[in-house]
Amino acid sequence: MRFQHHLFICTNSRDTGDCCANRDSLAILKVIKDTLRERGLDSEGGIMANKSGCFGLCQQGPNIVVYPEGSWHQVRSAREAIALIDALPLAS
Ligand code: FES
Repeated sequence: MRFQHHLFICTNSRDTGDCCANRDSLAILKVIKDTLRERGLDSEGGIMANKSGCFGLCQQGPNIVVYPEGSWHQVRSAREAIALIDALPLAS
């Protein structure tokens, strides 16, 4: 197993209308990547975080999908982003 969890953070941007980018999803992505790096979880056996395109729930963003759980999350703040990471079970 290369990574235990994989987070896909929608960073889609639209000129008009709702989108995750307009709701600071890039800042949320940075918090997640920084937190994973600080905790030493950004390498094999840890948690991967990547940008994603639109999930189609644009008015509920920023949206994150977590695999292998297949769970969907609305993450609006750095605190919620860190709480999401904290909630992911990690086998040692
Ligand atoms: S812009 Fe993020 S779900 Fe559509």
